Amino acid sequence: MPVIAIDGPVASGKGTLARRLAEALNLAYLDTGSLYRAVASCILERGSDPDDSILAAKVADTLTAEDLDRDDIRDEIVGQGASIVAANQEVRKALLEFQRNFAKTPPDGHLGAILDGRDIGTVVCPDAEIKLFISATPEVRALRRHKELLERGEESIYARVLEDLRERDQRDRNRDTAPLRAAEDAVILDTSDMDADKAFKVARQLIKERLSL
Ligand code: DC
Repeated sequence: MPVIAIDGPVASGKGTLARRLAEALNLAYLDTGSLYRAVASCILERGSDPDDSILAAKVADTLTAEDLDRDDIRDEIVGQGASIVAANQEVRKALLEFQRNFAKTPPDGHLGAILDGRDIGTVVCPDAEIKLFISATPEVRALRRHKELLERGEESIYARVLEDLRERDQRDRNRDTAPLRAAEDAVILDTSDMDADKAFKVARQLIKERLSL
């Protein structure tokens, strides 16, 4: 039952890659960022502050599958809020079991799972058969995110996107609990000069080689 862990910073392309690999390899896919985003979305909806650690832990404890489909989950403000609640140890603890269960018993009869996030290879699934760490320069990632926002019809200023992305990187990499970092046995894939198709081809080849070892 293969488990593939895909980690990386914001807008590294890990989500697109993970989704495509899951489809191609017929594996169940979990975007673990959506769990943290759902917690932030519930808190913001109440007009509360993602920094409220007691509330955040309570929301994480009572999160339901429907919360993952909330409409605002991809909004920038929810992403920033997610990065704040993700630094909360109690929140991470509350979400850990769900993620591990998903990896161990993937839904819908799938024979394996792909999880993407920040700490999948290091904390959630340290025994994953394949670990990929997707990176790209902040400028490339900010440009991708900027274009994505414009395509969605949202207003976007490149310099602002870059600034927000650096802020989020800083918080995700420097928090005490499960910071963003590559596992020692992860393969690092720098996608700065790759489009989504190229990244998919390289990752797929790598997985093929590894799984047949
Ligand atoms: O991948 P994303 O942008 O949807 O993630 C939103 C936030 O959630 C991100 O800033 C960090 C946090 N996160 C995390 O700490 N651990 C994960 N496994 C996934 C996301």
